[in-house]
Amino acid sequence: MPEEATPLEVHGLPHEAFLAEVHSFEFWFQSVQGYLAGTSYGHRPGVVAEALSDAERERLVTILCSYCVGETAALEAASGLIAFAPNRLTQIFLSTQVVDEGRHIEVLLHRMRELGIADPEVEIAKRASPSLLHFKRRLLELVAGRDWEAALFAQNVILEAMEFTVFQTHAQRADPITAEVLRGIVKDERRHIGFGENELGRRLRAAPHMRARLGEVKKELDHLVLECFDETLRSLEVPASERPSLGRDYLQAVARLGFTT
Ligand SMILES: [Fe+2]
Ligand SMILES: [Fe+2]
Repeated sequence: MPEEATPLEVHGLPHEAFLAEVHSFEFWFQSVQGYLAGTSYGHRPGVVAEALSDAERERLVTILCSYCVGETAALEAASGLIAFAPNRLTQIFLSTQVVDEGRHIEVLLHRMRELGIADPEVEIAKRASPSLLHFKRRLLELVAGRDWEAALFAQNVILEAMEFTVFQTHAQRADPITAEVLRGIVKDERRHIGFGENELGRRLRAAPHMRARLGEVKKELDHLVLECFDETLRSLEVPASERPSLGRDYLQAVARLGFTT
């Protein structure tokens, strides 16, 4: 008789076994199955589209263009990182991340088409945030330089923390379809941040001198991320009074690794 699959019980496991479990395809599959089952392009087919004014639609498309740049940065960087990942566990986790990032791009492009954009690539080239494009270039340079810690920090901590905060905020204000798409993406980004924090936290404990170098990376890239953050929140018409606290959410995520400068 085939054994019945039981849900993974990860919290009682010793730390190393816990990490091996939560960074596996087994865990990934169970996780995404939970929130993607029954959806098509990241949202349930029954969700009713809300009528948007031309101005709202334009603003949303511009924001989605920048999101696509962030997701493409993560897709290209995560796949490049696999080539020099230090072990199987990190290679396997990054493989799951590549799948997630590819899916994120797919659903965002699809959302743009649903909004009437015939060729999303043309709009991305015209509208994407220059600061995010700069960030993407720097991230891919770190990957090309095979700088594991700096690239992982830039991608799985800085970029992901920004996306996590922005997408979550946007989902609260978005039309129902965009909101569902973003909530699914946020669930994946949470997993990606967890991986970055675990992997870097362990390395920083073993080699504290690394902290100064990652602090430099943070100093260089923070303002690009915060600029893009600001552009997006302004265009979502998030009141100025709420923006500083959202910036703080981002900085707190980075500070969990001990970077406060
Ligand atoms: Fe993503
Ligand atoms: Fe991600």
